[in-house]
Amino acid sequence: MYGNDFVDPDEPLNAAEGGALDEVLDQATTRGDGGGFDELIAADKRIEPRDAMPDDYRKTLIRQIAQHAHSEIIGMQPEGNWITRAPSLRRKAILMAKVQDEAGHGLYLYSAAETLGVDRAELLDKLHSGRQKYSSIFNYPTLTWADAGAIGWLVDGAAIMNQVPLCRCSYGPYARAMIRVCKEESFHQRQGFDILWTLVRGTERQKAMAQDAANRWWWPSLMMFGPPDTGEAAKSGHTEQSMAWGIKRFSNDDLRQKFIDMTVPQAQKLGLTLPDPDLRWNEERGHWDFGEIDWDEFWRVLRGDGACNQQRIEHRVAAHDNGAWVREAATAYADKQAQKEAVA
Ligand code: 3HC
Repeated sequence: MYGNDFVDPDEPLNAAEGGALDEVLDQATTRGDGGGFDELIAADKRIEPRDAMPDDYRKTLIRQIAQHAHSEIIGMQPEGNWITRAPSLRRKAILMAKVQDEAGHGLYLYSAAETLGVDRAELLDKLHSGRQKYSSIFNYPTLTWADAGAIGWLVDGAAIMNQVPLCRCSYGPYARAMIRVCKEESFHQRQGFDILWTLVRGTERQKAMAQDAANRWWWPSLMMFGPPDTGEAAKSGHTEQSMAWGIKRFSNDDLRQKFIDMTVPQAQKLGLTLPDPDLRWNEERGHWDFGEIDWDEFWRVLRGDGACNQQRIEHRVAAHDNGAWVREAATAYADKQAQKEAVA
C-alpha cells in the first residue's frame, strides 16, 4: 500500500554493521594512488575519500550533501512546531522520534560532507548567511495538525523517492549514509499516512482539515524534485553532469513522475482529492498526466521570498547561538580526554 518502503530487516544498516567496512577501507587505501577516477565511474564502482577525484566532482558533492544536510535540520522546524500540540501522548512520542531522526540525518550528512575536506562549522556558517540552500519545501507553514500528516505522506514520500537512488550514488560515504536515512524516512512516510488515515475516518471537520493540508502540500512537494529537465533552467542545472558522475541516477522529471504515479493511488485510498484538474491516467504513456507546475513560485521561494524563509533561518541561527555552550563543553571534554590518553 505505501509503495515506497525501503525496509529489508535482514540487511545491515551500514558498512560498519555489515562487516563490510574493512573491505571498503582496504579498497580506499589501495586506490589512493592518485588515479582511476574515470575507470571507477565507468565501472560503476564507488569513489572513496582517499581516491583522487576532479575538483568539480568534489564541489558538486559538497554542494549537494551540504544542501541535503541543511534540509534535514531545517526540516525539523515545521513539524517541531506541532510537538507540544500533538493530539495524544502516542502521537507526541512518535513525532518527537521523527524530528530527532531528522537531526540524526543531518549529522550523518555533515559527517559525509566532512570526508570531502570541509568543516561542518563552515557549512553551517554558509547556511546561516544564505550562501548555501536548503530544500524549498521547508519554507511553507504548518497551519494545522493535518500538516504533520501531509508532510510525512507527501514530503517524506517525495524525499524517499529522491533518496533511494542516492544509496547507489558513486560517492561511498554519501551512499552509505543514505541507506539508513531511507529506512527511517520510510517510517516517517508511514506515520504521516497514518495521521491522515485517522483524520479522514474522523469527523467532517477532521476530513476537511486533511483535504486542506493535501491541497497546500501537493504542489510544493512536486517542486522538491527540482527544476524541470528541459527549458531555460535546465541549461544552468547540474543533472547531466551529476548523472554522468553517478551522483544522480535519475533526472528530476523522472523522479517527479514516479512520485506522482505512486502517490495518486494512495490519495484515492485516503479518499482525498489532489488539487490538479489535469491529473488523469494516460494509458498510452502508462503514467499519470499532471498540470503545469508554478515554477515562478519555486524560484521565488529559493530567492528567499517564501512564507517562512526568514523565520526558518532566524530560528536556526538562534538555536545555534543558544547551543554554543554545548559545543564548547563537548570540545573541552574531548580535549581533556585526549590529554589523558596522551599521558597514559
Ligand atoms: N530546494 C532548493 N533548491 C533546489 C531544489 C529544492 N527543492 N531543487 C533544486 N534546487 C536548486 C539546486 O540546488 C540548484 O541550485 P544551484 O545551481 O544554485 O546550486 C538549482 O536549483 C538547479 O537544480 P538541479 O536540479 O540542477 O540541482 P541538483 O542536481 O543538485 O538536484 C536535487 C537537486 C534533486 C534536490 C538534488 O540536489 C538532490 O537529490 N539532493 C539530495 C536530496 C535533498 O537534498 N533533499 C532535500 C529534502 S530532504 C528532506 O526532505 C528531509 C526529509 O526528512 C523530509
